[in-house]
Amino acid sequence: MSKVFIFEHPETLYEQCARRILQLAREVLATQERFHLALAGGGTPRELYRLLSAMSEAPEWRRFEFYFGDERHVAPDHPDSNYLMAKETLFAPLGIADSAIHRIPGELEPSAAVEHYLKDLRNVPHLHQLPRFDLVLLGMGADGHIASLFPGSPLLQEKVVPFGASYVEKLDSWRLSLTLPALNNARHLILLVSGEKKADIIRHVMQGHRNAMPLPVELLEREHLEWFIDREASHLLQEKEEAWPSA
Ligand code: 6PG
Repeated sequence: MSKVFIFEHPETLYEQCARRILQLAREVLATQERFHLALAGGGTPRELYRLLSAMSEAPEWRRFEFYFGDERHVAPDHPDSNYLMAKETLFAPLGIADSAIHRIPGELEPSAAVEHYLKDLRNVPHLHQLPRFDLVLLGMGADGHIASLFPGSPLLQEKVVPFGASYVEKLDSWRLSLTLPALNNARHLILLVSGEKKADIIRHVMQGHRNAMPLPVELLEREHLEWFIDREASHLLQEKEEAWPSA
């Protein structure tokens, strides 16, 4: 069963999510040398990363290995680059060493980018022949996509390979993404959802729907999943709604 935390304001959402991330990092770093984290892209995590980079009680950042859940098919200095967003809000302010940043090379042809990242993912400790991230941060699109796994994506059928590329018709662009086997192999998953634009999809997912096909977000293992949602994104939920119908 996933845990759902709802916060009145985005500021509290980000602050509590940042604290949870640092708490998980401390727990993991108490028993292993490195904390392997896959970052979310898009716009929602921007404020979260800014906050994280300013939190003095953070554990030793030098023991973090930063990966990405997905990337656009763009160069690292392109405004759409998830890497650039994380560099501006987190890596640069914290002075993270390049060696601890595992960027998805979105500038390469998709197949070359996949080959490159599959090699880099070998640096993540493995479980069941898959990279096992200590934490994967995710956002969610208004269509229920997570990372770059969009509804109908062939990548949703991938059961073995942890990373792949898919052409996203509605974006008219290639996307590079961890696949469900990699996401669901993580020790912890945090889904950060903020704003009125996500209210419909939150209600759709949390209260169940008649669609035959499950949405990508609904294919996440619930056992290690924590939702961090603000009031704007959750205001359509009926009071005391059972978060995400039990399996
Ligand atoms: C990306 C993200 C994607 C994002 C959702 C939500 O590369 O865009 O990884 O999965 O989390 O699209 O995006 P917003 O946070 O901008 O609403």
